[in-house]
Amino acid sequence: MIAADVMDYRELARRRLPRFLFDYIDGGAFSETTLRRNRSDLDAVSVRQSVLSGVDHVELATSLLGRSSSLPLALAPVGMAGMNARRGEVQAARAAHGAGVPFCLSTVSTCTIEEVSQQSGEPVWFQLYMIKDRGFMREMLARATAAGTSVLVFTVDMPVPSIRYRDRRSGLSATAGLSRAVNQAIQVSTRPDWLLDVGLLGRPHTLGHIASVLDQKAGIDAFWAWMAGNFDPSVTWKDLETLRAEWPGKLVIKGILDQKEALAALAMGADGIVVSNHGGRQLDGAISTISALPSISEAIAGRLTVMMDGGIRSGLDIVRSLALGADAVMIGRAWAYGLGARGQAGVTSVLDILADEMRVSMALMGCSKLSDLKGKAISD
Ligand code: FNR
Repeated sequence: MIAADVMDYRELARRRLPRFLFDYIDGGAFSETTLRRNRSDLDAVSVRQSVLSGVDHVELATSLLGRSSSLPLALAPVGMAGMNARRGEVQAARAAHGAGVPFCLSTVSTCTIEEVSQQSGEPVWFQLYMIKDRGFMREMLARATAAGTSVLVFTVDMPVPSIRYRDRRSGLSATAGLSRAVNQAIQVSTRPDWLLDVGLLGRPHTLGHIASVLDQKAGIDAFWAWMAGNFDPSVTWKDLETLRAEWPGKLVIKGILDQKEALAALAMGADGIVVSNHGGRQLDGAISTISALPSISEAIAGRLTVMMDGGIRSGLDIVRSLALGADAVMIGRAWAYGLGARGQAGVTSVLDILADEMRVSMALMGCSKLSDLKGKAISD
């Protein structure tokens, strides 16, 4: 199958990955209302056509949290992405490095920050949750520093993991036991390419950073149990102040949907925020990120970097987000589909597609530079 756009990569990933892995990437919380809303509200944003503006050169490069980036985007943290292709996070980070954009590694990746930084060509951004075991958190901050990480993305919209019914139906998060193992084995048997690439040649499978707090022989069940029991619902802004005092690098708060909370992030000394609802995977019924963005961007008024994620599937979606006030976006599923479909080459191709679509959209909007986009969305 020819993959022309990002949604083609979604279809390719669906064909290549066992169902429980594809559903884990693709799904959202509860009845997936917010997951759909992120997309439908982006689709509803019209942009302004402008002709005869001399758009022979369109510049997409920008500066993002202390580094240059060839596009106004970063690869969002995606947990367990390493299961989508062999040493998956390394492949995705190499693609990001090749394209000149930042890659953010999840706390719950399968490859460690040391492996990804060493193998991908540059230090990566690192994402952290508030974990009950503060010793583990401190260890992670020290490891990130040693690996050269300059940007810490702290995710705040997951005090508790939400309920994702697709994961239960597909057998990913069903009760451990024989029936789940049989169910997954059946799904895997229908995906020979994945079975060879990841299931067999990818052995031994690793549990990333969590391995350091688990028993040597722990398997995936122990991993999920640790995750379920270690998110810290008692976290408050006070904890963030402590984190700010301990982390000397750039600090980005991910999971803001509200103007007041954006201002609180500014007040506690954050360098950036990500307007995010975790891609519709946490509070179902929450507003879409594109609808939350304009008032947040207005309140922040350039005092910190405002990124947005949720539903970005095209370069036009990036243009829409910048027109409504984002400095940059993060992409989650878009890169995870590329990785699941074709590994590093798939992620590279997704990034190329997004850049081409941005270039064409901006030219048709009469915009030669990213700053020209501000205000070029038409509201009803
Ligand atoms: C995520 N996301 C996420 N966020 C985070 O801070 N830490 C994590 O470990 C994960 N894990 C994760 C796994 C999967 C499979 C997905 C799809 C998403 C959320 C992610 O960083 C981002 O906010 C969303 O993916 C953005 O929405 P789109 O681009 O996927 O629509």
